[in-house]
Amino acid sequence: MFELDNVRKVFDDGTVAVDGLTLAIGRGEHVAFIGPSGAGKTTLFRLLNLTLRPTSGVLRLDGLDIGSLSDAQLRAARRRIGTIYQQHNLVGRLRVVHNVLAGNLGRWSTLTAVASLVSPREVQGAQRALAQVGIPEKLHARTDGLSGGQQQRVAIARVLVQDPDSILADEPVSSVDPSLATFIVALLRDLSAESRKTLVMNLHSVDLALQYFPRIVGIREGRVLFDEAPGKVSADLLSTLYAGDADEETQRDRFDEILSVSGVCRPLRP
Ligand SMILES: Nc1ncnc2c1ncn2[C@@H]1O[C@H](COP(=O)(O)OP(=O)(O)OP(=O)(O)O)[C@@H](O)[C@H]1O
Ligand SMILES: [Mg+2]
Repeated sequence: MFELDNVRKVFDDGTVAVDGLTLAIGRGEHVAFIGPSGAGKTTLFRLLNLTLRPTSGVLRLDGLDIGSLSDAQLRAARRRIGTIYQQHNLVGRLRVVHNVLAGNLGRWSTLTAVASLVSPREVQGAQRALAQVGIPEKLHARTDGLSGGQQQRVAIARVLVQDPDSILADEPVSSVDPSLATFIVALLRDLSAESRKTLVMNLHSVDLALQYFPRIVGIREGRVLFDEAPGKVSADLLSTLYAGDADEETQRDRFDEILSVSGVCRPLRP
């Protein structure tokens, strides 16, 4: 589905964020990216969701070079990709129903979208999505009155309404407590599996990546350092990946422990 061939992204100030990266992600695959701060993970995501263009190299979506797409084709391609960010990008003063229905914006005309602010369209779709993420009772709540974890679930419900072919989640659980983080990662994984969506997630938590993803890609200095099944990720690989990172010491102590409890990917829910 996604193919990157020697892709580089150099920002205007000369920062090389992605540096000759080659990687392919198949339809329906689940992949976790891990790596130190500044490794280029978010930049890689913005390339994959077509908000950034490579400085050089080729990015193909379903075999088509995105450099050859017209603006209309690019917009259509973006609609098939759902993105979830750490800071969830919701409009706080709107009710939950409106934020969830914003998942339709790529499909709706401006008029329909504006009308929906007054009288929400397709409320059942929003209700179903909120039920899937476990907060059906929040349909009419004000979004900024929800907890961080509930807001993250609203962001997931919005992506469910969008119904894209692939979901890209950039650190979706950095601002929630550990048990909710596990819940949200498992939820995204299971919902993606049920609807055969491709799922790509950036995770600071190595434990969650190893527990919930069958493929782990270590990114360092804008390149792929390793691309392995969780059972093949060793403490040595993780140490090399995070070498020099501010948290290196604490990480190092934890690697063996993490690997001893989570080397094998957890099964999908029955
Ligand atoms: N718009 C930009 N202009 C200039 N440099 C940028 C821009 N966005 C990111 N960078 C730089 O590119 C590099 C990669 O950043 P990126 O945000 O992709 O890292 P990351 O792996 O997501 O880090 P983190 O784990 O902290 O989120 C960093 O050096 C960053 O400062
Ligand atoms: Mg980032």
